[in-house]
Amino acid sequence: MNSPVMQGININAPSYVKNAKLIAWVAEMAALTKPASIYWCDGSDEEYQRLCQQLVDGGTFKKLNPAKRPNSFLACSDPSDVARVEDRTYICSEKKENAGPTNNWMAPADMRALLQTGKDGEKALFDGCMAGRTMYVVPFSMGPLGSHIAHVGIELSDSAYVAVNQKIMTRMGKAVYDVIGTDGAFVPCVHTVGAPLAAGQADVKWPCNKTKYIVHYPETREIWSYGSGYGGNALLGKKCFALRIASNMGRDQGWLAEHMLILGVTNPQGKKYHVAAAFPSACGKTNFSMLVPPEAGFAGWKVTTIGDDIAWVKPHADGKMYAINPEAGYFGVAPGTNMHTNPNCMRSLDKNVIFTNVALTDDGDVWWEGMEKDTGTFPDHLIDWQGNDWTPAIAKETGAKAAHPNSRFTVAATNNPALDPEWDNPNGVAIDAFIFGGRRSTTVPLVTEARTWMEGVYMAATMGSETTAAAVGQMGVVRRDPFAMLPFCGYNMSDYFQHWLDMEHKLEESGHTLPKIYCVNWFRKGDDGKFVWPGYGDNMRVLKWMIDRLEGTAQGTATGFGVAPQYSEINWTGLDFSQAQFDSVTSLDKAAWKQEFALHSELFTQLAYHLPKELEETKAKLEASLTA
Ligand code: GTP
Ligand code: SPV
Ligand code: MN
Repeated sequence: MNSPVMQGININAPSYVKNAKLIAWVAEMAALTKPASIYWCDGSDEEYQRLCQQLVDGGTFKKLNPAKRPNSFLACSDPSDVARVEDRTYICSEKKENAGPTNNWMAPADMRALLQTGKDGEKALFDGCMAGRTMYVVPFSMGPLGSHIAHVGIELSDSAYVAVNQKIMTRMGKAVYDVIGTDGAFVPCVHTVGAPLAAGQADVKWPCNKTKYIVHYPETREIWSYGSGYGGNALLGKKCFALRIASNMGRDQGWLAEHMLILGVTNPQGKKYHVAAAFPSACGKTNFSMLVPPEAGFAGWKVTTIGDDIAWVKPHADGKMYAINPEAGYFGVAPGTNMHTNPNCMRSLDKNVIFTNVALTDDGDVWWEGMEKDTGTFPDHLIDWQGNDWTPAIAKETGAKAAHPNSRFTVAATNNPALDPEWDNPNGVAIDAFIFGGRRSTTVPLVTEARTWMEGVYMAATMGSETTAAAVGQMGVVRRDPFAMLPFCGYNMSDYFQHWLDMEHKLEESGHTLPKIYCVNWFRKGDDGKFVWPGYGDNMRVLKWMIDRLEGTAQGTATGFGVAPQYSEINWTGLDFSQAQFDSVTSLDKAAWKQEFALHSELFTQLAYHLPKELEETKAKLEASLTA
């Protein structure tokens, strides 16, 4: 049984792999996808270096100048494969209503015919899709190995780029096999770039396919990904597993899988709070999680990172909600990152980094838009992410970006100088507050506090945000993005709202005070089209007000949209920010809110099936007070 030979492919499972289901599944997938060989990743550093060298030899990676950026690499993708593809992402639940109106759906049997079995003489997409390539068997744990909150996945991928990224992004390697033993459960994840090679055919540096399918079967907890090698489409532990599949696990088992950073904030007296914040893709999670408080006025305050993108949150018998970061690395947005906006991040990127779709400098280092703020000048010459010459003159003339707006770095959490000592505590950290925030140039105020759990859930459920480069599609369009989970909730959104509402009763039964819920917006713009709020490190001023509220030392002021800070309650030391500027980021415009509530109504109409009636009631109350 240990090494079945399927259609001429010996799957060659190492002797330490003892899980019968896993061995049978790999054999079955090898028979379907027909790779030239199978490689079982052990997760060792030696293996990482070997695979990186292989990617250099094959042209996918460029090794960066070791004097500038030790042990780091640059990959530039096919220009058609640069971000998540939401319109190609499917939740294939047995019943359409369980995927809900916000997800693409296809009946599992139809999807399986398309991907696995073929239909009407059509060959299945996965049939022979790995021909000429190596299938990497990538064992990974989301969450600390063996933690009661963690879950194991096995990704089969024909991309070595995926294997090395997974080594950084997850706890990847041999030890995972000890966790699943002979009969432990794992989430099967199959990934192919969808570019089989004929005998003797030369490979390209970034193989992918015009046809793309990112598919989830929530009932059987399976992931099938076809045609893309990029980010969340291909690193299946991330959005596919840790959010879309895990949200289903959480619904069934009474916990939450969220698109949230987790940070620790310690005051000068040494008291530490933990905050989890959901902002949509490319709306500031990584930056907020690594925040450096302003020098003036915040002596003794410290912010530490637990996670930058995903949180698994579980209510505990002690009445608190505990959160872990299921990931082990950051796949973060490069443009805009510099020593002024995010010094901790820049320091994390000194060595041992994989960069994707940034520009290459003439001395073998990397560059992206925003770095000019550190040096005061633009480089004279670069090779842009598409391999073309870039100069400031060319950029001025054509508007060409040196780095793709969704270019990213992959780096281990342990590179982060602000890493929280509890970041991989298997029990997680107790959450004191949840924050929800979108990217809104108008309407939504800098910060408010929900007066009740119900009101907080309403604010999160109706959140809108301008679309970004993190997903393929039009940019800068306001859309509803409930809980920053629109592209990531793996089941019916209204049932997800109900699940959040139910948490209140779960925790109240144990007599605990629930985490407070805040709503923020760093992105209000002035008449000049510029952001009014300085953001980044200055977001500490808002975070401190939240802590003051938790401690009961800030009174706030009641508004139609929750409790807002008074100007005098914010610590302004070291920042020149007038009452008038403050008013321009906090004001509630009646006419704008009328329109906003019309958009909430539109959302509720779309989500009418199973929509908790309390949300409609809360809307009526808020609308009456805000537009009166
Ligand atoms: P994903 O990894 O896609 O989930 O993104 P994210 O939510 O982690 O966003 P990230 O922190 O990478 O920020 C995305 C972009 O927003 C970057 O270009 C940042 O420079 C910018 N940004 C982050 N925080 C702020 C802020 O407080 N103010 C302003 N104006 N821009 C910000
Ligand atoms: C996001 O889009 O929210 C990301 C990047 O964090 S990806 O891994 O591509 O999902
Ligand atoms: Mn994200």
